Amino acid sequence: MATGRAHWGSRLGFVMAAAGSAVGLGNLWKFPYITWENNGGAFVVVYLAAVFVLGLPIMIAEILVGRRAQLSAVPAFETLAGGGRRGRAWSTVGWVGVLAGGVILSYYMVIAGWSLWSFHKCLVWSFTGYDAASLGFDGFLKDGVLQVILTAAFSLMTAGIVMRGIGGGIERATRIMMPVLVAIMLYLVATALTMDGRDEALAKLFVPHFSELPPQGVLLAVGQAFFSLSLGLGAMIAYGSYISKQESIVRSALWVVVLDTGFALLAAVAMFTIIFSVPGLQDRVSGSTVGMLFITLPDLFYTRMPGGAVLAPLFFVLVAFAALSSTISLGEVVTSLMIDRRGWSRRKAAAICSSVVFAGSVLAALSVGAVAPLSQVEVFAGKPGLLSTLDHLAANYLLPLGGLGTTVFVGWFLGRPALLEELGLKRGTISFHLLLWILRVVAPLAILALLTAVLAGWDFS
Ligand code: TRP
Repeated sequence: MATGRAHWGSRLGFVMAAAGSAVGLGNLWKFPYITWENNGGAFVVVYLAAVFVLGLPIMIAEILVGRRAQLSAVPAFETLAGGGRRGRAWSTVGWVGVLAGGVILSYYMVIAGWSLWSFHKCLVWSFTGYDAASLGFDGFLKDGVLQVILTAAFSLMTAGIVMRGIGGGIERATRIMMPVLVAIMLYLVATALTMDGRDEALAKLFVPHFSELPPQGVLLAVGQAFFSLSLGLGAMIAYGSYISKQESIVRSALWVVVLDTGFALLAAVAMFTIIFSVPGLQDRVSGSTVGMLFITLPDLFYTRMPGGAVLAPLFFVLVAFAALSSTISLGEVVTSLMIDRRGWSRRKAAAICSSVVFAGSVLAALSVGAVAPLSQVEVFAGKPGLLSTLDHLAANYLLPLGGLGTTVFVGWFLGRPALLEELGLKRGTISFHLLLWILRVVAPLAILALLTAVLAGWDFS
């Protein structure tokens, strides 16, 4: 099986595909709103620390496992651990990942569906004129039928692509659309920075006041780092298995991390500036923090930006596309396992996995306002509703747990020769010792400490 495995076509192949998986709603929707909820500055500092101290080494570890084994997560752990009992035990890390993938997919589809709605709204505004009052985001969240329809539409698109195999289509399209998205994003930020709220926004984002960081913010920052970088569930193991031996894992990982983080920061700068510049927007956003992406940007497009009427619908198409390249990578993790393990055909695997996930999506779609019991469940304090509950569970518990398994495995069980060979580093170099020290000690202890603190019920509220 290991021989003849396909590899990314070009040097940039992996970086592009991995960045496509990483850049998604995590950057555009989630990062700005949780940064807002956690009062900016200090949260951003903790997030950046989490990205570079935990995220980068764990991304290196995941890619390394994939390339070494030339297999996706579950069989990769099994093989590298030497098969048998030990192999089965380690493959649990892969299974937790598949579970996390299914959970994330089920609510990610709902938010992704919102981009289709925003696209439609913008199209109407572009022709009939912008009317801020007609956004009606709260009413939209409560409209259960509409929520389920949008979610179903997005689930069908994802299933259709996964069913055909990811193949050339999505990658080729991503390669064209991502740069366009970056260009529009830069234009958005540049335009936003001419608004009056700029100084206030930059201060809020980049001047840390640690007394304003809720203690739980540390957990959220770490969880967000895993989520945004697509870590902790084996996605990077699968992608890493297609990296050629000539490519530098460290350099590739660094690129993905920098691109993903840059994207998140740009999105936050644009949204914060708009919030501080447009009167009344702060209340609208605070009333529904989960919708920041969909509430703030239309104001900028239609009231400030030359060409905004054309760019607004285009922007939301690209958001949908960024989300699609992420749902596909998640869907592939779940589907490919069923193909490998159960011997199902790709069609069957994709259809069954998508249906199971969709059942969860329907519940999540109804949990943002339509059905009271679903919208009010509060397992984690301050995170009411099934959608937020699933998000909190996956991002802040399952992903760090998967990351913990990976870093312990690579740090302690894989063996130095394998590590040195894959990384192309020499024994005794500072970078190798630093990385090994992080993988063996710093990352496991940090994740363990965090999870125990939370589970032991440190008062985080
Ligand atoms: N990183 C993506 C985002 O920010 C979501 C995502 C895609 C993901 N694949 C993943 C998250 C694998 C965790 C693991 O939107």
